[in-house]
Amino acid sequence: MTDQLVQAARRDSRPRSVDEQLRRRARSVIPGGMYGHQSAGPLPPEYPQFMRSGLGARISDVDGNEYVDLMCSYGPVVLGHRHRAVEAAAAAQAELADCQNGPGPVMVELAELLVSTVQHADWAMFAKNGTDATTICCTIARAHTGRSRILAATGAYHGAAPWCTPRLAGVTAEDRANLGYYTFNDLASVTAAAAEAGQDLAAIVVSPFKHDAGFDQELVDPAFARGLRELCSQTGAALILDDVRCGFRLHLGSSWEPIGVLPDLSAWSKAIANGHPLAAVLGSGAYADAAASIFVTGSFWFSGTAMAAAIATIGALRDEGAIEAMDRVGTALRTGILEQAMARGIEINYTGPPAMPYLTFAGDRGHQLASTFAAAAIRAGVYLHPRHNWFISAAMTDADLAKALAATDEAFAAVQARQHEGGIT
Ligand SMILES: Cc1ncc(COP(=O)(O)O)c(C=O)c1O
Repeated sequence: MTDQLVQAARRDSRPRSVDEQLRRRARSVIPGGMYGHQSAGPLPPEYPQFMRSGLGARISDVDGNEYVDLMCSYGPVVLGHRHRAVEAAAAAQAELADCQNGPGPVMVELAELLVSTVQHADWAMFAKNGTDATTICCTIARAHTGRSRILAATGAYHGAAPWCTPRLAGVTAEDRANLGYYTFNDLASVTAAAAEAGQDLAAIVVSPFKHDAGFDQELVDPAFARGLRELCSQTGAALILDDVRCGFRLHLGSSWEPIGVLPDLSAWSKAIANGHPLAAVLGSGAYADAAASIFVTGSFWFSGTAMAAAIATIGALRDEGAIEAMDRVGTALRTGILEQAMARGIEINYTGPPAMPYLTFAGDRGHQLASTFAAAAIRAGVYLHPRHNWFISAAMTDADLAKALAATDEAFAAVQARQHEGGIT
């Protein structure tokens, strides 16, 4: 731990004893004490590992510290924690049963709702995680085309299976054998990768915008999206839109509908059921036979509770104007943060759509300033992330926004102090 972090931890007067006890116990019985994207290990020491509860846009850790939530469980929570209608729908289904010998009527109702909500979708399949959905899309594309090769953008995250996990421990060369890579927003690089794949090109997988963790985000160039669509139509390869992170946060439909580009297959999870575990694969009619031909399943994939939650979530997103609300509060947050940074003469990049922003500091290659900022923000009661995009929920009130901005102002003050102390600019 650096001197600054030690001092920051000392200045942190919040109680942390339950979290510390749980971390100690976890180290004995959970590999690494915690794993995956929710590990607090790489975060500043001020961050709690274990959380207790959430309501609306506020969350509490196991020691009772409350935060405005700008991470939304890394995306799943879109309407706010414990949204009343969603929880009521889930509870009503749970009263009947959750996991049975066959799906309930909710599976058909949800598939119908998705088909009528998402323009390119003629059918829906369900699973649990985003990785299930992206992997199933690739399998369907291969079954449909009889080809093997999939193209993905370098650095893009499509899940944690061997074909796409960013960490190579335990991954074999064969797991990656049928992959090619291109650069997001660079059509020439896709054309070159497609030419290399030749007759073996099964699919191109792409996220709605570039949201690679740790890097400034990049919105899609519509000409790039149209170019991908054209290339796939010409070659017979499937265009797979990975809407796992963006889906239903930017648009009530697939995320490229506003620019008029429709994929053949799309992968969904995260926000689809406001925190209940569900993923979906949506596809156009041409891919229905291939989708029916593959064998994919899971013990919990047909459970009714999450599907009932998804129906209520999509209804609430529509009826409560949630997408517009997230855009509005996200825009206000961006305006406030840009003003704060400018007032202190701190050079930042604030990228991505308003509902999924990411903040970096000019020249901060090791993320030290971002860590100082995040540590100060969490001490002031806002949970954001130093190296991953943030997520805004529709539950953010004016009071939540005011608290968030008060905290980011303190956080900029901490960055300024660190810049002055350490000569970091
Ligand atoms: C774009 C994208 N695709 C796929 C995934 C994998 O989803 P999951 O973690 O639910 O398996 C994620 C998760 O963050 C994601 O952001």
